[in-house]
Amino acid sequence: MSTPAPVSTGALPAARKKITTLTFRQKKERGELITMLTAYDYPTALAMDKAGVDSILVGDSLGMVVLGYENTLPVTMEEMLHHCRAVSRGAKTALLIGDMPFMSYQVSVEQAVRNAGRFLQEGGMDAVKLEGGRERADAIRTITSAGIPVMGHIGLTPQSIHQLGGFRAQGKTAAAAKRLVEDALLLEEAGCFGIVLESVPARLAELISKRLSIPTIGIGAGNGCDGQVLVTHDLLGLFDRFTPKFVKKYANFHAEMQRAFADYIEDVETRRFPAPEHTVEMDDREWEGLLKELG
Ligand code: KIV
Repeated sequence: MSTPAPVSTGALPAARKKITTLTFRQKKERGELITMLTAYDYPTALAMDKAGVDSILVGDSLGMVVLGYENTLPVTMEEMLHHCRAVSRGAKTALLIGDMPFMSYQVSVEQAVRNAGRFLQEGGMDAVKLEGGRERADAIRTITSAGIPVMGHIGLTPQSIHQLGGFRAQGKTAAAAKRLVEDALLLEEAGCFGIVLESVPARLAELISKRLSIPTIGIGAGNGCDGQVLVTHDLLGLFDRFTPKFVKKYANFHAEMQRAFADYIEDVETRRFPAPEHTVEMDDREWEGLLKELG
């Protein structure tokens, strides 16, 4: 690879302090909103960290948006750790959260704490996230008692799509909403430092956020949460299969990538690429010498 020309990034921003779970709590207390995005690789994490995001989630959504699986269920611990390591090499300031994949914490609390530990020891993460309400309280207590911060995740929990009947909004009846409020309080009591609320009615998410002292991070949960998260491939328009209703697309990179690839193919096929500026030259005298040598 040739050495790229230096790119001017303008004035250097003031160095940011490492974001911790304490920062999350302080932001909630001060009424400041928390920003979170998913990342699965080094360059994306680097760009996000430079942009100033508070937290990066290495979500098991990587199974769908990067690895092309139908849903998140096939994602393994090894796949998660591989992508966590790449993200941790790119982002030095954001709070890094590794998403525990399906069947890495459900079988026993021992298995849960061991796998949570791997995210910190082998993946370079600062914390883990796992899905579920009251049924996960014991695992959360054990993981947090080992000194590992845990983020909860309730509402639409994609690892349970078969039980939920698909990717459907949750908490829409009074009874289901009450169960979610109870779950949120139980997760706080079990030691979570924050909770993701996914695809729940906005007023329910706001009510939960007000009742908890730990921050809520919403995705498809309205703007009454203490922070927001989006799947980056949705935000960038990189995931072609579908875009959930709650996503705001900030770019259309899938179309842009397709255009760039088509331009490259055309350039190669018409010999417009490589042009002289992309080509290594050889001194005429050396060239003549070579021809003479070859005879
Ligand atoms: O896997 C993921 O990206 C997530 C977010 C949608 C919160 O869990």
